[in-house]
This record gives sequence, C-alpha cells and structure tokens, in this order.
Amino acid sequence: MATMPTGTNNIPQKEATTTSKPNRGGLEGIVAATTALSKVEGTAGRLIYHGYNIHDVARTTTFEEIAHLLWFGHLPNKTELSSLKARLVAERTLPTTVLQTLRALPSTTEPLDALRTAVSAWGAATIKGKPTIEQAIAVTARFLVFLAAFQRLRNGLEPVESQLELGHAANYLYLLNGQKPQERHVKALNAYLVLLADHGMNASTFTARVVASTESDIASALVAAIGALKGPLHGGAPSKVQDMLDAIGTVEQAESWLRAAVARGDRLMGFGHRVYKTEDPRAEELRELARLADPREFILARRVEELALAILEEQKPGHRLYTNVEFYSAALLSSVGLPGDLFTPTFAVSRVAGWTAHILEQVRNNRLIRPEAEYTGPMDLKFVPLGAR
Ligand SMILES: CC(C)(COP(=O)(O)OP(=O)(O)OC[C@H]1O[C@@H](n2cnc3c(N)ncnc32)[C@H](O)[C@@H]1OP(=O)(O)O)[C@@H](O)C(=O)NCCC(=O)NCCS
Repeated sequence: MATMPTGTNNIPQKEATTTSKPNRGGLEGIVAATTALSKVEGTAGRLIYHGYNIHDVARTTTFEEIAHLLWFGHLPNKTELSSLKARLVAERTLPTTVLQTLRALPSTTEPLDALRTAVSAWGAATIKGKPTIEQAIAVTARFLVFLAAFQRLRNGLEPVESQLELGHAANYLYLLNGQKPQERHVKALNAYLVLLADHGMNASTFTARVVASTESDIASALVAAIGALKGPLHGGAPSKVQDMLDAIGTVEQAESWLRAAVARGDRLMGFGHRVYKTEDPRAEELRELARLADPREFILARRVEELALAILEEQKPGHRLYTNVEFYSAALLSSVGLPGDLFTPTFAVSRVAGWTAHILEQVRNNRLIRPEAEYTGPMDLKFVPLGAR
C-alpha cells in the first residue's frame, strides 16, 4: 500500500529564525511549511528525496521513478513503474486549445512564457475542482509536449506526435528534433530531470503552495510557479551562465572578464545560494555529467568556475559563495542540443513533478498560507477631503 508523503501544518515555531544575524528579509530561515518530499541540508550540502540521498539516485534512476517517489511516497517496483509510465504516455497529447494558443503567439515569445501560457490554456479548457494525482500526471506528461510544440512552431515546423515506446527524457528530445535521440543525450537529460525534480521550499514551490492553499486549482498554482521560476535569482540563471561563457569565449580571457564583472558589482550567474553554505550537491553531479557529455566545452566551464570561485572569495570575504546547480545545467543542456532559451523551461519540465507533489501535499492537509507584514508607513494622519487638499 502506498504511503503518501505527508507534510503537516504544525510548523515548529522555534525554528522560525535560525541565526542571530539581523533579518535581511526574503523570509530567510523561516520555516513556511512542513514537507516529507525533499530536504535541503545547507551546511552539509546534502539533498534528500523522501529518504534517498541525491547522489544515490542521480544516475541510477529515471525521471519517472523519481516522480513516483514524490507522488506516491516510495520508489516503484517494476509493475508500479510500468503502470505510471503507461499513465504518463496516455496523457502525452497536445489539446487543440493549446495548439491554437501556441500558434497565436509571436515567434519572438520566450519559450518559458509560451509554456506558462499553454499551461493556462490547458487549465482553462480542462481543469475543474481540487488538485488530484490524475491532474498531476496529466500535466507532467504535457509540459514537454507543450514546450516542444512551441519550439518547433517558432522555427516554422509542425509539432510531431509523441513516440509511445520512448521514456520521458527521450520523448522530449524526440518531440524537439523529430528524430530518435542519441542514447548518451537521453541519459544526460534524464539525469538532469532527476536532479532538478524537487528542492525543498524554493521560491517557485513556495509560490505553488501559496496558490494551492487558497483552494485554487492546479493549473493556476503551476502558472504562478512558472512565473516565479523565470527570474534569474531562481531558475532563469542557466541561459545567463551560457551567455557568460559565450562572452568569455576562451580560457585566456576568463580572468579579466570575471574580474571586470565583479568590479562592476555584477552577480556571477551560477554561484551563490540562499541555503547551501557549501557546494550544491547537484552541481557536483552535473559537473561530472557535463564533463562526460562534452569534454571540450567542459574545459572552459571548469576554468571559469575555478577562477570565479577564487575571485569571489577574494572580493567578497565573509560571504562564502559556491557553485550552484545552474552553472553546469547550462553546459549539460547545451551538450544535448538545447538552445539557451530552453534551459529554464526544461528546468520546469523536471520541477513540475516536485511542484505537483507539493500542491497535493498542501491540499491533503491545508491551511491558508497568509503571513503578516511589518507596517512601516505613517500612522494617525489627519484626513483632508479632495477639494481641500
Ligand atoms: C542565489 C542568490 C539569489 C542567493 O541570494 P541571497 O541568499 O539573497 O544572497 P544575498 O543576495 O544576500 O548575497 C550575499 C552577498 O553575496 C553576494 N553574492 C551572492 N551571490 C553572488 C554572485 N553570484 N556573484 C557575486 N556576488 C554574489 C551579494 O552581492 C551579497 O554581497 P554584499 O552583501 O556585499 O552585497 C544569489 O547568490 C545570486 O544572485 N546568485 C546568482 C544567480 C544564480 O546563480 N541563481 C541561481 C540560483 S540556484
């Protein structure tokens, strides 16, 4: 019998602020929910998916197995996995409403905006009532269908039909390119999808839970989550990492480029994290995957990483900054042939598993998420009617 991951709403109050440093805002250190889905251990640099260390599952499981873990609370046996795969495959359709919506968008639309719009159109046409596991499976199967359809349409190509025998990662590459993908690309992309599937109370997951807590629907929660993911301080960084590597161009130019950027006060994309005070364990996995995927491109990325860390340590003493997940996401996704503006939407193709699992967890034990604000405006002003002002 499946044990559903259960969070509770009995939030330990004492943990609300964990440091004696002044409150710098951003809800830093605040426990906003309880969850049984994933645990981010910032000091140890550990990421746990419902009991499993990310290093144990990163290259040994499929995205579908991890989705099963998040949705049903345990890794599937063969029968359960076949059943989930069949359910996902059955949902790999491109509804007419969504296709028409995507066709209506200008080809200059950012793919993440197209995905957000497609999810909204899908929700408007099909979603009613409280979030369900059936809806979670349906939307997870469709994220990549919507995205690949837009990628082809904006390049003047017609969408192609999903291939029933292909797994999630392989089908995504097939839908993008219209041809069977190379096995090494499928493996690399699958590992990426596994690594990005969930990550504690990150900004987009929090957003999804806030919307779900109002008893809104799953499509609305996901549209909001995609919006939160878009910003460069969250999921929008990897294409900017790619822009940075392209601008640097060669190993020889790396140091002067990075020094100039830090001197201007720019943030180096792919470094720093709110929770990790050591290396992001996903970066460690992605570094190795990127090295295997494209050893030549890896040389520049690795040198830029080493120099960036050294320069940040020198220029920002007191802030220990480490490589985050986005730095090698860029190299990995580029090595499987994705253009830069598909990096963040591909993050969403993975994270939708976590978002939907969190939405379902929130709904199972819901209490409206409604924090307070500290008012800093004036008080007791004397009201003067419009004509007398
Ligand atoms: C991820 C991130 C938003 C975390 O931010 P945060 O917890 O709010 O950290 P803060 O904004 O408080 O930064 C603390 C200090 O480190 C600096 N810093 C943090 N990340 C930095 C980076 N990538 N490059 C340069 N300086 C950085 C800040 O400028 C700040 O220095 P200051 O106090 O001298 O102004 C931040 O590290 C960042 O912007 N990174 C780059 C974008 C990125 O890679 N995003 C993907 C995240 S997975």
